[in-house]
Amino acid sequence: MSIFEKLESNVRTYSRSFPVVFDRAEGAALYDTEGKRYIDFLAGAGTLNYGHNNAQCKQALLDYIAQDGIAHGLDMHTRAKADFLESFQKYILSPRKMDYRFQFTGPTGTNAVEAAMKLARKITGRHNIIAFTNGFHGVSLGAAAATGNQHHRGGCGIPLSGVTRIPFDGYLGSGLDSTRMLDKMLGDASSGIDAPAAVIVETVQGEGGLNVASQRWLKSLEAVCRRHGILLIIDDIQAGCGRTGTFFSFEPAGISPDIVTLSKSLSGFGLPFAMVLLKPEHDKWAPGEHNGTFRGNNHAFITAKAAIETYWKDDSFAKEVQRKGAILSERLGRIAALGGSGVFHTKGRGMMQGIGCRNGDLAEKIVRRCFDHGLVIETSGPDSEVVKILCPLVISDADLNAGLDILENSVRHVLAQDYSLAA
Ligand SMILES: Cc1ncc(COP(=O)(O)O)c(C=O)c1O
Repeated sequence: MSIFEKLESNVRTYSRSFPVVFDRAEGAALYDTEGKRYIDFLAGAGTLNYGHNNAQCKQALLDYIAQDGIAHGLDMHTRAKADFLESFQKYILSPRKMDYRFQFTGPTGTNAVEAAMKLARKITGRHNIIAFTNGFHGVSLGAAAATGNQHHRGGCGIPLSGVTRIPFDGYLGSGLDSTRMLDKMLGDASSGIDAPAAVIVETVQGEGGLNVASQRWLKSLEAVCRRHGILLIIDDIQAGCGRTGTFFSFEPAGISPDIVTLSKSLSGFGLPFAMVLLKPEHDKWAPGEHNGTFRGNNHAFITAKAAIETYWKDDSFAKEVQRKGAILSERLGRIAALGGSGVFHTKGRGMMQGIGCRNGDLAEKIVRRCFDHGLVIETSGPDSEVVKILCPLVISDADLNAGLDILENSVRHVLAQDYSLAA
């Protein structure tokens, strides 16, 4: 029995899918203790958009530590924080004509979601929040109430309240627009929906199975929010930081969320770091009302600034992501076509794409075979039926294609074992 099985809680998950001991990593490559190289199509579940041990982030952090820069400072003013704020304002918000205040929360995504939901409730004096089928927002109690997945909800042990669930875009099939349903229900005093403080939504549902909200649906959702005095929270924790081809995933929709949550790749280096962006008029917090020991990670301020200034000073990186997204679409389309009718379909947007499989068993066989051949890749979706690609955005074309080759060969192998599935 390994030290992990002996001592680590049963709650561990990814280590079960990838039962080796990892030792080093660089860019899109992971190495185990035996020196075997794996291409990483998981990238810390979307936390390593700029790759493992990104050179610019690493150097900035090494320099900062060497100068005895502040490592922990509660939420006190530090040079690292000032530099990050300035950089994010200059290269991310200003060019997009966005006006937000920054709230640094506890360091994981669910901390940012908790703060966002709590703030919306405080501002509006309403308790209800609208969330969507297959949404995933974290596993602390408030965020778990907004999360759809029963496996995660069930672990909470108490009733999860204060959330009304509405079908996500496409959930009811094409032609049925759930924002129209929401609009009608909110305008009907007998619909049974308590007036909501906010809507919380992902533009591409990551854990929920790469379901993409159309730009039209997002615009319509924003209009419903405005009509009924509801705050719009975009949870950009997974789809943000360039993953879909623009820094914020909601940019192509032209919407203006009241609150945005960011975490995962925000630090640029895989460091724990989360943030809520809120429109200035919504900054109704009293000092220390929502506090925490780890609000703003100074090392992450340093690496986040380095990432912004390496990749987001102009639109060349975004164009690169869009180009690689097109490679993914093209190759995944061809891979999906290897299956017979109803076996596979492509899902997702930008560099957040994958293959929906007929069932979770099929997806599981594919990702297991991929791992045996040196590709770290996971599933998502309600039945873990979507093979999901979340490789670093900085991956080379060679590694991207090599990973896709492993995926394609794995799909071919699984199909060959069950001829009834092949096209
Ligand atoms: C959209 C979204 N929101 C929130 C979270 C929760 O983040 P964390 O796991 O860091 O708490 C996740 C994690 O996958 C996520 O994808």
